[in-house]
Amino acid sequence: MVKPIIAPSILAADFANLGCNCKKVVDTGDVDWLHIDVMDGHFVPNISLGSPVITSLRKAFPRDDAKPIVFDCHMMVSEPEQWIADIAKAGGDSYTFHFEATKDPAKVIKKIKEHGLKAAMAVKPGTPVEEVYPYAADLDMVLVMTVEPGFGGQKFMPDMMEKVEKLRAKYPNLDVQVDGGLAKDTIEPAAKAGANVIVAGTSVFKPEDPKEVTSFLKDAVTK
Ligand code: DX5
Ligand code: ZN
Repeated sequence: MVKPIIAPSILAADFANLGCNCKKVVDTGDVDWLHIDVMDGHFVPNISLGSPVITSLRKAFPRDDAKPIVFDCHMMVSEPEQWIADIAKAGGDSYTFHFEATKDPAKVIKKIKEHGLKAAMAVKPGTPVEEVYPYAADLDMVLVMTVEPGFGGQKFMPDMMEKVEKLRAKYPNLDVQVDGGLAKDTIEPAAKAGANVIVAGTSVFKPEDPKEVTSFLKDAVTK
């Protein structure tokens, strides 16, 4: 049985107050992971942050905390192999690369694992989920994008739920993550389709009271 996980996307935080903003969402008690969106301005038309920020954030959430927070790094970069060592050194726990960004996913997965990170692969909305199947046995998680990667605050694409359903049916024990536009009014189809790792940026970081949202999302994915 897979575990329900809420992973707030720090892209929606106020970067001038990143540590405090993250503490506030972690203090809800519903959050096990922080989702860290790394964008290179090439794979996606936006630049966000990289390993220096992850290094600083790791100091705010040490690994020896009573409840250590998993740093889930979503790498929207053209050369996924290039950043694995940096992300491991900075304090990342998992490394999600895009299927569309490499000619040799197996090689990337191998390198991620050699650096002691969990390996995950993401598919953009236009990529068939079947592309994941040859690699699934070696992956810790698959990320089904529910928006075009690059920006927070976009509209959830319900059509992507068919991919989630297929993955869940074929791999009952695999973590299946959804990312983009997840909120109280879109969580139901995602939970029903079988997603267990929910990334949510705008809906969690923007309201005054994140607990109200995180508990709703967590309940929805807790079967
Ligand atoms: C989009 C990112 C997402 C994004 C989610 O490229 O991968 O993680 O920050 O933000 P919301 O929840 O606002 O759609
Ligand atoms: Zn993301």
